Amino acid sequence: MKPTTAAELRSLFLKFFQDKGHAVISSASLIPENDPTVLFTTAGMHPLVPYLLGQKHPAGNRLTDVQKCVRTGDIDDVGDFSHLTFFEMLGNWSLGDYFKKEMIPWSWEFLTSPEYLGLPKEKLAFSVFAGDADCPRDEESAQLWRDCGVAEDRIFFLPKENNWWGPAGLTGPCGPDSEMFIITDREPCGPDCSPACSCGRYLEIWNDVFMQYNKKADGTFEPLSQMNVDTGMGLERTICVLTGKKSVYETDLFENILGKIAELSGKTYGQSDAITKAFRIVGDHMRTSTFILGDDRGVSPANAGQGYVLRRLIRRAVRYGMELGLPVGFTGEIAKVIIAQYESVYPELRRNAAFVLEQLALEENRFDKTLKQGNHEFEKIVGRLSGTVIDGESAFHLYDTYGFPVEMTLELAKERGLSVDMPGYDACFKKHQENSQAGSEAVFKGGLADHSEQTTRLHTATHLLHQALRTVLGGEVAQKGSNITPERLRFDFSFGRKMTKEELDAVQKIVNDVIAANMPISYEEMTVPQAKAAGAIGLFESKYGEMVKVYTMGDFSKEICGGPHAQNTGELVSFTIQKEESSSAGVRRIKAVIGAKAE
Ligand code: ALA
Repeated sequence: MKPTTAAELRSLFLKFFQDKGHAVISSASLIPENDPTVLFTTAGMHPLVPYLLGQKHPAGNRLTDVQKCVRTGDIDDVGDFSHLTFFEMLGNWSLGDYFKKEMIPWSWEFLTSPEYLGLPKEKLAFSVFAGDADCPRDEESAQLWRDCGVAEDRIFFLPKENNWWGPAGLTGPCGPDSEMFIITDREPCGPDCSPACSCGRYLEIWNDVFMQYNKKADGTFEPLSQMNVDTGMGLERTICVLTGKKSVYETDLFENILGKIAELSGKTYGQSDAITKAFRIVGDHMRTSTFILGDDRGVSPANAGQGYVLRRLIRRAVRYGMELGLPVGFTGEIAKVIIAQYESVYPELRRNAAFVLEQLALEENRFDKTLKQGNHEFEKIVGRLSGTVIDGESAFHLYDTYGFPVEMTLELAKERGLSVDMPGYDACFKKHQENSQAGSEAVFKGGLADHSEQTTRLHTATHLLHQALRTVLGGEVAQKGSNITPERLRFDFSFGRKMTKEELDAVQKIVNDVIAANMPISYEEMTVPQAKAAGAIGLFESKYGEMVKVYTMGDFSKEICGGPHAQNTGELVSFTIQKEESSSAGVRRIKAVIGAKAE
């Protein structure tokens, strides 16, 4: 039956594909584990790349799931009726199993059958790949749609720009696709109006990708060893269409969130355009931030990478929250609503709730200080200004010294009819990044440059400590930094609170037990997807295809690392934790020593 809530749509989609022999798998982390070229998981296929490339998936070759996704490319458009930075993607995959002739009729059945979405056939349109030098015109898909009963004028042949999907990162599986659209009430924008234009008449709700190619680093496409299907349906958008709502923010997914904002602010959604926009930005950004923080690989706000996106989302939510008059601490109150709403589908949110609330409170606090100082400094810059352009160096100074995000400077400048020299800002930023990268490489090398027996043994102890921490504290622990001197090791890792004495004792005991067991240490070279499949931990920083070393210590630890290491764990003699302390927000630091080796 036609779903009336997002929860019903999730279950119906999964059931449809389960009935067609698919195994339901759980959503992967939002932080990609095997693709350093992107910050977040942006599609359901993303965590499945190794399997699309040919590796066997333990659950079989027909899979379905609901994947949490973050896409922040359009962050500045959030506030209108349709843009979101977090969304859920309903997907199904064939890993070298079925292909177009099964998938297209199934898509038709799910979209139109009264047992499923029951969408009116005359309201649907379809696009297929028009063909080019890399891949021929997709007549087969067009014919399959015709066989379902789709009229000729509802099938659009479009070029690569519109009808090619992937890869998710720089390289990887991709192929021509066939997209499915709802025809809205909006009039055609002209005689050439098609799903390719952005006028809004055609609203994409589902995409069947026929993954036949692997895009290589040199930009060429090679045929994959197997033909895959990868599909993705946007949950928020589809439930919006099915329930006849004007905006994704009016679906049941946002009811409690916007309700809480109304309760805390005393304002009403829809009261004015500005208020509606602020409700949407706070709602969207808080949802995304809660999911990033509440992930098992969750990160803390920071000045680079995922942490920077997170910081920007929280700070933008706070800024619009202030406009609504939301009280200090509102981010935590809204996060609680989001956790309660989603925990049955994403139990990690409850597991990591304490971390989510702590990090939000910390960031709200930091931002409050930043805003006070930054606003003051911004006024000083504006006071000194002779023209209408804020120079790049001043904008960078606001960011670097006061933690004032450049987006904020841009927004404040815009409100005053001023602009910011962004190329100048980017140049300063780049220079700063190069300096700090050089710095972190030096630290990293400093840790391992000394290959004496003592530092090598300490390095091995670091691996054992890393695994023992994960055993005791859970998968949320990930290495954030390491520094080794001949005297001691220092290990930084993500964890939201101080460790208890019992936890420290347990970690120390595990490491000493592994030392006492005198386990052999060896390494193997493999590709990153292979390392991942082998269950190795560590930084998956290499591109696909490149070989990495995976060090195995007995049956206890498996980690990607350049080495060198001791030959067996017994060489460490003993292991003692000397100190556990905070390194930065959400990051703990342990200092430890090992026993002297008998001559
Ligand atoms: N990977 C495809 C998409 O994201 C299904 O649209």
